[in-house]
Amino acid sequence: MEQPASGVKVKNFYLCSGYKPLLRRRFGMSETELRVSKIKDGTVIDHITPGYALDVVKILGITGTEKGPITLAINVPSKRFKTKDIVKIEGRELNPQEVHKIALLAPHASINIIRDYKVVKKQEVKLPKVIENIIKCANPACITNSNEPIKARFYVDCEDPLLLKCHYCGYIMEKKDVLQRF
Ligand code: CTP
Ligand code: ZN
Repeated sequence: MEQPASGVKVKNFYLCSGYKPLLRRRFGMSETELRVSKIKDGTVIDHITPGYALDVVKILGITGTEKGPITLAINVPSKRFKTKDIVKIEGRELNPQEVHKIALLAPHASINIIRDYKVVKKQEVKLPKVIENIIKCANPACITNSNEPIKARFYVDCEDPLLLKCHYCGYIMEKKDVLQRF
């Protein structure tokens, strides 16, 4: 069903703009507030470091060809921090490796698993002390970038700002180096 330009979606119904004042009273929304819809089943990545929602989407391999709705909110007000980004993905639950990837970019993010509109699991991302096999070393001369069958391995020297030290060559990677490798 096509959404009218000035429509408001409530469950599966789109209401014309005349119903907006009623909805605002019903849901306690002010004239200036527009809330992002809740999702039914999937994942909400909340409290993403502001400005990193697009990178989170990229590292999750989201291309825009997915069937379910994906919602991004960038630089929205946050109770915990001043601002935050949010990514909501309908119909997908993240695996532990994906959660570690997000922790590299957004060390304060929380992952909420949603089933039938309810938050059934809430997890603060946590970087392990050692990162294996997630990203490659930025030093082209590193043995992990040769043809040797060696798995990349990094020590987390600092979570925020991110500093990863390569186990093999000692190269220190910052967040910008990590972003280039995804
Ligand atoms: N959410 C959603 N769809 C749902 C349920 C929750 O999009 N069906 C979103 C909420 O909008 C929020 C996040 O998932 O961004 C976490 O929901 P909840 O735990 O209810 O919110 P808070 O208590 O504010 O979370 P926190 O304590 O982590 O800040
Ligand atoms: Zn290296």
